[in-house]
Amino acid sequence: MRGIILAGGTGTRLHPITQVISKQLLPVYDKPMIYYPLTTLMLADVREILLISTPSDLPQFERLLGNGSQFGISLQYAEQPLPGGLAQAYLIGEKFVKNQPSMLILGDNIFYGPDLPRVLRSAISRGRGATVFAYEVDDPHRYGIVSFDAVGQAAGITEKPEAPQSNWAVTGAYIYDENAPRLAAELTPSARGELEITDLNRAYLARGMLTVEKLGRGFAWFDTGTPESLMGAAEFVRNVEKCQKYLIACPEEVAFSHGWISSADLRHRSAALAKSDYGKYLLKLHHDVRDKPPNVPASPFPAAARSASAFF
Ligand code: TTP
Repeated sequence: MRGIILAGGTGTRLHPITQVISKQLLPVYDKPMIYYPLTTLMLADVREILLISTPSDLPQFERLLGNGSQFGISLQYAEQPLPGGLAQAYLIGEKFVKNQPSMLILGDNIFYGPDLPRVLRSAISRGRGATVFAYEVDDPHRYGIVSFDAVGQAAGITEKPEAPQSNWAVTGAYIYDENAPRLAAELTPSARGELEITDLNRAYLARGMLTVEKLGRGFAWFDTGTPESLMGAAEFVRNVEKCQKYLIACPEEVAFSHGWISSADLRHRSAALAKSDYGKYLLKLHHDVRDKPPNVPASPFPAAARSASAFF
């Protein structure tokens, strides 16, 4: 299973903030935005990840995230010279995907929910076709909206509809089988000159191969593309973290809970970030496991589902 994070674009709705810095490197409360989609992939057990961004922003992502070893994952990078649309990720990432299933996530999308790891893993285990995740929104005119037939099956997806047939928006996480690069290559650019992800999803729908999974009660989804939604996401993260005493989207924590990094790695990372509350959190995690060795599972993988869902 391969993962792709699409973190390019122009971020015009956030200008002037994003005139000289990538949107996906902006803070969402206590960590860079990119940590959130990265951690979502990791919660889905995806460890081989390609990050796509603009030629000017890519070096900054590489400086921040390196080869991913500090998170127990493998990170590669690729340029998208111009914002040619979300489905272009599969032309750029064709070799990386290498006839395997994949999960694509947008770099400005934040997903939260205790059940998220299970929902993602169960969609991945479906194997064939594609799965998209729908979230109920108040302003359906802004999104790709799913319409449903009488028995609740997805019947169509309309991009920014004038007369929306539902309030269920397609969010920025997509799971595809190995056919995604081939189907993306068959798409033609839309009127705005982009290869649309909605068209790729429609291609799966037309073949009867699209599952729409509703993210209902207990889930939160933020697309952080405007000042208002960016602030809303930051406030949400701050409030949940204050109440629960757990961080949302801490890649080191997910890596540790999956057994991808050791407690010594955790200590090393906490030392590097020691002055921040984030670093202190990692140190506390390290102390918690050091002080309670009987709780450390012999095999990390069965434990991953338990601890990951407790944290997120
Ligand atoms: P958008 O929010 O649709 O576009 P944008 O980020 O350029 O912002 P704005 O509309 O304010 O100008 O993009 C959604 C996500 O996809 C975001 O993380 C950027 C990314 N993206 C790419 O990486 N390449 C692309 O070609 C496009 C269209 C988006």
